[in-house]
Order: sequence, then C-alpha cells, then structure tokens
Amino acid sequence: MRKKIVAGNWKMNTTLAEGVGLAKDVNEALKHVTPKCDVVIAVPFTHLASIAAVIDSSKLGLGAENCADHVKGAYTGEVSAPMVASTGATYVILGHSERRQYYGETSETLKVKVGLALENALTPIFCIGEVLEERENGTYLDVVKKQIEEALFDLSAEDFGKIILAYEPVWAIGTGKTATDDQAEEMHAFIRSVIAKKYGDQVADDCSILYGGSCKPSNAAQLFAKPNVDGGLIGGASLEAESFMGIVNAF
Ligand code: 13P
Repeated sequence: MRKKIVAGNWKMNTTLAEGVGLAKDVNEALKHVTPKCDVVIAVPFTHLASIAAVIDSSKLGLGAENCADHVKGAYTGEVSAPMVASTGATYVILGHSERRQYYGETSETLKVKVGLALENALTPIFCIGEVLEERENGTYLDVVKKQIEEALFDLSAEDFGKIILAYEPVWAIGTGKTATDDQAEEMHAFIRSVIAKKYGDQVADDCSILYGGSCKPSNAAQLFAKPNVDGGLIGGASLEAESFMGIVNAF
C-alpha cells in the first residue's frame, strides 16, 4: 500500500539544543492530532541520538540527511549507514540536489549509498529533480528518468519497494517558487509510469512519491490533492513546528 508521508529536511540548521527543542515541539504537537500521513524529520548527524531519545518513534520517524558510500574505515569526516542506524534513525535522505550540486554526488555513488542504506534497514528518501535550464528546454522528464534509472534500477523489485522518492525541482528549492500542482502531477505520474515499465504496475502503484520545493502550509493541500503526489519533503517550513504541522495537517 502506498503511504502518505510528510518529511522535514532540516538541512544545516539548528544547534543541538535548538534541534532537540524543535523535535520535542513536533513530537508534542503530534500527541494532539492523528495525522493522515506518516511524519518524519531528517536532521543533522550530530542531533540524531539526542532526538531519538526524546521522540515517540511510533508517531515521528527520524532520519539522517546523507550517509557515506563506505561502511567504515579511513574516510575522515564521513558518517556511515550503520552509524546512522545505530542512533535509532530509520530513514536517510539520499541524492538531494544540494549534495549532487555542491558535493559532486553522482548516480554511481548514490547507487552504493542506497545499497548500504537498505543493508542497514534504513529507508532511503531518494531525491530527483531537474534544474531550471532543463525545465525550460523541455528535457526535464528525461533528466529525472535518467536519475532514477542510473541509481535505482539495478535494485530487485523487493528492494525498490522499500524506497521513497522525492521529486524536488531544483528551481523550486528555497526560492519561494513552488511547482504548480499540475507541474508536480505531470512529473509524478511520469515517474510512476517509468517505475511501472521496469517493475510492473503494483510496485509503481505502491511507491510513495513526495514533492519538495517551497512547499508551505498555504500550498500543501493543493499539491497533496493530486492523485500522484503522496506528500512532501519540506525544507524551510520544517524549521518551525507550527508551519511543519500546518503541512502535516494539509492531508
Ligand atoms: P524548501 O522547502 O526550503 O524549498 O526545501 C525543499 C528541500 O530541499 C527539501 O529537501
């Protein structure tokens, strides 16, 4: 069954004390509502263990924003999938456009990271999306198809079924310029058709495809009303419990 999910991506924001406070606020808010979706927060590595200790994991999922492409060893500064899992986190964002753009992550590396995440029982939230130029020159569908094929299509159907996808048009991230609900729906329906061709209708239908990029309480309901939009990956608006919950409650 396809799940509805709202996930926060805090990126490189909050000190440890601020982050624990924010996680507690979201956790508290979730005590008073029964959301119609799963709720997840992806937080800096330094915060994972402390936040795991203060949230109710049956109501609020916890994830990292990245993991290494190696299990352990002489990779100064890296954090491995087993390390992430050892904190109590159960999700990991992989392939975010900021990682691709600023840290040179390629489909080859991401394929390895996805495999390591799955081996360590972490659910990858795998990001894909085109840049503005690709939107404007009309290659955006092909670009996203290639990102999915290159990093994910060596997986078995069973493993592919464990992945959450997040379509994040790069031109919409942190710009205040959201994709329209029709633009999101066009891409999400296309992604589902690409999955169906490779893995069949059932796997495609069961895959949760989130939208990310300037999603806010004011536009979430319209985006989430589209049949192929299964929730959101939220940056800026996840940094305050009230606006994050506004998006959670948009379902
Ligand atoms: P914003 O919601 O700040 O645009 O960020 C989206 C994003 O990159 C989530 O991963």
